[in-house]
Amino acid sequence: MSDTGAAGPPPLLIRDLAQVATPAGRSAPLRDADLGAVEVLEDAYVLCRNGKVSALGAMRDLGPLDADVEEFDGRGLSAVPGLVDCHTHACFAGDRVEEFSMRAAGSTYEELHAAGGGILSTVRATREAGEAGLAAALEVHASWMVHAGTTLFEAKSGYGLDRDTELAQLRAIERAGGIPTFLGAHATPPEFVDEGPAAYVAFLISEVLPDAADVAEAADVFLERGAFGIDDARRYLEACRDAGLALRLHGDQFTESGAIPLAIELGARSVDHLEATGERGIAALASSEVTGVLLPASALFLGRPMPPGRALVDAGAAVALATDFNPGSAFCESLPLVCSLACTQLRLTPGEALAACTVNSAHVLDRADRKGRIAPGFDADLVLLAADDWRYLAYHLGGPVVHDVVRAGRPVSSSPA
Ligand code: NIG
Ligand code: FE
Repeated sequence: MSDTGAAGPPPLLIRDLAQVATPAGRSAPLRDADLGAVEVLEDAYVLCRNGKVSALGAMRDLGPLDADVEEFDGRGLSAVPGLVDCHTHACFAGDRVEEFSMRAAGSTYEELHAAGGGILSTVRATREAGEAGLAAALEVHASWMVHAGTTLFEAKSGYGLDRDTELAQLRAIERAGGIPTFLGAHATPPEFVDEGPAAYVAFLISEVLPDAADVAEAADVFLERGAFGIDDARRYLEACRDAGLALRLHGDQFTESGAIPLAIELGARSVDHLEATGERGIAALASSEVTGVLLPASALFLGRPMPPGRALVDAGAAVALATDFNPGSAFCESLPLVCSLACTQLRLTPGEALAACTVNSAHVLDRADRKGRIAPGFDADLVLLAADDWRYLAYHLGGPVVHDVVRAGRPVSSSPA
């Protein structure tokens, strides 16, 4: 096997893996029976070259190697694709531990939000942090995510709600290697309480969107009672679409709010949450091209009903799984934990959960041609699980299941920061 050329890092051979498991096939998004189909190689290797997977197979088929190949001992470990978190709010300052205690004592998330706490308390902390403080906080959160096995994350703005801080968030996300989503329409900030959400949306469209569209890949809106109504959501999303952004929606978190029909009408890439979605919404989503992003850690953290994961999959919907990592409704960066919740609470199989947080999440981020599978030509992003059966990803509830992470063909522990 030939060398990579002088400038690149040496090739990496991960050898003697108990299993290499990857969603089957090459298409995306996966749905129906394809969603749960996993290809498993036993006693296997993965060879990474120039940041890509160049080959994988059974150890017995491994040919002679060049002298410069670095070897990684995979004995007792299983490899799955690097996890893709397609829905986070990881770019925030401060915390909401006080609010967490108040919720534990009986207050609800919606009550705290209506009283000017919740999202708006993180807005205050994020505005105060300044761009350097925000970047430092995001760096910490990003390191938590990668150590939990996430090799690609999306993160939203939405804790600035003013021009400068929204743009600072988007830039910080991009610099941290994340995929930035413009969530200006997350809440109406104090400056607009008198004029109301419609005036705030008009401000977002005229003053923030033109620059946000240079950095962000997608736009998102919180369509919910107490946040934004359907008319404001449509106006905001149409303007964002016209500015070249892909569309996402926070929908059906507490109430069925018209998010699924609006997502289908506008050709959105995803509608996320769906805890309140009923039969008609399930059927509509299933017969559309819109991916339903399920966030069971958020439902768990708020003590809310779980989204109808099994019903969506059985109806033929494309579903993805994500953490919703944020300080208020889901202080959780762990996709392995989300996979455990998917299997125990949403009644997905381990194979369906794996595809939902790899291939289908990559599809939501428009990267399924190179992320979310272990296959020749794909980015060499892998999670090495501390088990000889890949299903420990979901089985070991909250356990230390991530042994090592490889990103762009390098073990993360040995990559430059
Ligand atoms: O997806 N519901 C709206 N937004 C986030 C929560 C943000 C926050 O509470 O800070 C969510 O749950
Ligand atoms: Fe969210």
